[in-house]
Amino acid sequence: MGAIVKHSQIDAQYTDPAKLAARQSLWQYLSGPSLPARVVDLVPPGATVADVGCGNGVYLDQLRRRGGNPTVVGFDRSAGMARAASRHGPTAVADAQALPLRDRSVDVVLCLHMLYHVADIALALRELRRVLRPGGLALIATNGAGHTAELKAVMHDAARWVAGTGVDPDWDLRRFDTDTARAMLSEVFDDVAVVPAGGAGAVTDPAIVIDYLKSWPPSVVGVEEGPMWTEVLHEASRTVLAHFAQSPTFTVTSTATILKARVPAMPAVPATPAAPAKPQPANRPAPPGTVPTG
Ligand SMILES: C[S@@+](CC[C@H](N)C(=O)[O-])C[C@H]1O[C@@H](n2cnc3c(N)ncnc32)[C@H](O)[C@@H]1O
Repeated sequence: MGAIVKHSQIDAQYTDPAKLAARQSLWQYLSGPSLPARVVDLVPPGATVADVGCGNGVYLDQLRRRGGNPTVVGFDRSAGMARAASRHGPTAVADAQALPLRDRSVDVVLCLHMLYHVADIALALRELRRVLRPGGLALIATNGAGHTAELKAVMHDAARWVAGTGVDPDWDLRRFDTDTARAMLSEVFDDVAVVPAGGAGAVTDPAIVIDYLKSWPPSVVGVEEGPMWTEVLHEASRTVLAHFAQSPTFTVTSTATILKARVPAMPAVPATPAAPAKPQPANRPAPPGTVPTG
């Protein structure tokens, strides 16, 4: 079953923001505060923030909307994404594994739903730590088991019917799900906490469900871009429309989590201890030319 998404395919996913926007549209149906609102709530006001893998800039936008004139910069490997995000703040094309930032120069780094795409995740985590000031905070988002299970089930049945393949339910989780993320972050940071941020969304618009499925790479069903993939998508769309003929909503589960990782604050500089007194030999002879007193 196709599950390995190559880096050239990841770049193809993000040359322009349309596919990411299709996925973001679906998560607007989640009940409760949005993920960007939850993340930004964890950013101390006045912090200097770098959003690494900023995509089309929804987090930069959310930070700006909160007010307080925050100092933010977005980085993305895709020029199309960096350009799209630049309407919400300054951005640059850069790779998470080699950030164009000085050591200890920011208070908060955001790395939201992007580290699973990075070739060397451990290297990227060390970069995040390098650029954080003492006491700084990394906010990382990823997903746990069961994420989009309902969509994967639709796609699996379509792929089995059309192409004789299927969908690995963990295709998007193998490299960096919540458990792996916690373990990897603990290697680099001192204090790691996991905040659940998922839920269920009752989507009322079939086009939003179908567009989400179309945003996936064809490799998830083990085929190439072309007639077979078109046919799988057609079959999956038919299933979604049949569902909506019976029900006003299609429920999709998110198992998103936010991981909070801290760099320890600089330890207080200890007062310089007084130099120990030189031991004086009891019967030290007076240096030549001096007259002993007392
Ligand atoms: C799923 S999108 C998430 C975007 C944004 N953080 C959000 O949550 O809305 C992943 C983003 O990471 C970017 N990306 C992938 N690999 C990267 C890397 N090595 N360095 C920087 N950005 C990368 C992609 O171009 C894409 O914009």
